[in-house]
Amino acid sequence: TILVLDFGSQYSHLITRRLREFNVYAEMLPCTQKIAELGWKPAGVILSGGPYSVYAEDAPHVDLDVFELDVPILGICYGMQELAWLNGKQVARGEKREYGPATLNVEVASSPLFKGMDHSRVWMSHGDKLHGLPTGFEVIATSDNSPYCGVAHKEKPIYGIQFHPEVTHSTQGKTLLKNFAVDICKANQNWTMENFIDTEIKRIRDLVGPTAEVIGAVSGGVDSTVAAKLMTEAIGERFHAILVDNGVLRLNEAANVKKTLGEGLGINLTVIDAADEFLDKLKGVTDPEKKRKIIGNTFIHVFEREAARIQPKGGDEIEFLLQGTLYPDVIESISFKGPSQTIKTHHNVGGLLEDMKLKLIEPLRELFKDEVRHLGELLGISHELVWRHPFPGPGIAIRVLGEVTREQVAIARKADHIYIEEIRKAGLYNKISQAFACLLPVKSVGVMGDQRTYEQVIALRAIETTDFMTADWFPFEHEFLKKVASRIVNEVDGVARVTYDITSKPPATVEWE
Ligand code: XMP
Repeated sequence: TILVLDFGSQYSHLITRRLREFNVYAEMLPCTQKIAELGWKPAGVILSGGPYSVYAEDAPHVDLDVFELDVPILGICYGMQELAWLNGKQVARGEKREYGPATLNVEVASSPLFKGMDHSRVWMSHGDKLHGLPTGFEVIATSDNSPYCGVAHKEKPIYGIQFHPEVTHSTQGKTLLKNFAVDICKANQNWTMENFIDTEIKRIRDLVGPTAEVIGAVSGGVDSTVAAKLMTEAIGERFHAILVDNGVLRLNEAANVKKTLGEGLGINLTVIDAADEFLDKLKGVTDPEKKRKIIGNTFIHVFEREAARIQPKGGDEIEFLLQGTLYPDVIESISFKGPSQTIKTHHNVGGLLEDMKLKLIEPLRELFKDEVRHLGELLGISHELVWRHPFPGPGIAIRVLGEVTREQVAIARKADHIYIEEIRKAGLYNKISQAFACLLPVKSVGVMGDQRTYEQVIALRAIETTDFMTADWFPFEHEFLKKVASRIVNEVDGVARVTYDITSKPPATVEWE
């Protein structure tokens, strides 16, 4: 395992990501981590970049015990400046910020760090720079603007680089990280999903013990399904999955989940039909945030009630709550956020844990989304489910603008179903990150046959994005939109007009509410 100490760079998590791409497991912890409290010995340590200046009074610094580990160390950007600061303080503000591509000139061809990478393009993003060699170090690479683009300790395997090998703009950055982790640190390349399944199942069994039971909500989405399947592999019927049908799921969703998860994947699943309860509470509510709150609170209420009902009779208690937390959420909570570090909690079921006195179990907490998908496929979950678009917790309630009624949900559902069906038929589903139909609370005049109609409007949305923080609308062929519009107006009662949303995020959001 490689230890990545995070100094708060926006790229830090990518270091972990890249290492895993060549099967080396890496764990990221805040730069303030006390080495004595680590509990394991890393094969090597990477000090990440960060937005601070090492010479500032409140700058974060690494625990000096890291040098006592006697393992290879690589400092990236701020991490390199930290190494320089600790070895002679040769760091100062550069004349100008350097941001963008640079060419790497490798000076000491024998440096194992740069094996196979002379004159490669590297990505720079820094304001401070070294203005002298740290004590005991030599230059191993330069760039036009940085005479100390790469430095290495003369005797120990300690390296510093000014650029960011973890971003894809550094064309051979992955080679560098591999040189460091595999050749220099001799880290094991045994991080594979097959190994993950074995070790995680064992870990779950050890944690849960021979009799305790686990409960967890499933939604029909990728993360909860993969987590539920993994639990089922580990403890079988002692894992209880609950799908709460809140009345605002997709068309036929509850029945489909019952079929795929319950029958297909052998998950011990209970489907709770609580549609009336949710829709009653949503009566008269039009404010999006109120809708979210009502759905969230009602969910907790229903889940607790049903959990009490399936409490096993044999005396064995439900002790654990399963949650499909992924690594990006964990990173968000553990990233170094500055001298006054704040830890965010991401458990949207936090209320459940306290009320029900349950312990949390999060088998996916080390995984990135694409790793979860790979894991899902290895566990026998269908390609279609594994590559499903995300669906918001409040469901169609935030895609029916205005008041949410059974009738309105039925219209939005049918339109959405037709739209997604056509997207699939056109082979576009996997090119799109998320697509859905929204029902607008306005009426518009139309004509069908000889009849004047006066009915509602459907807005279609489809976006492409990598992180859902920014997104662009998907450029469908006009013929495709024509076909979908015609099918929706003809097949869905209550809709007279269809529009396509051509707004990016920002300024719009993905959802309409
Ligand atoms: P926005 O609309 O914020 O959406 O651009 C970004 C992503 O988040 C999803 N989303 C939600 N997911 N509960 C959820 O579980 C919510 O309240 C919620 N609101 C938005 C949205 O579908 C998109 O993928």
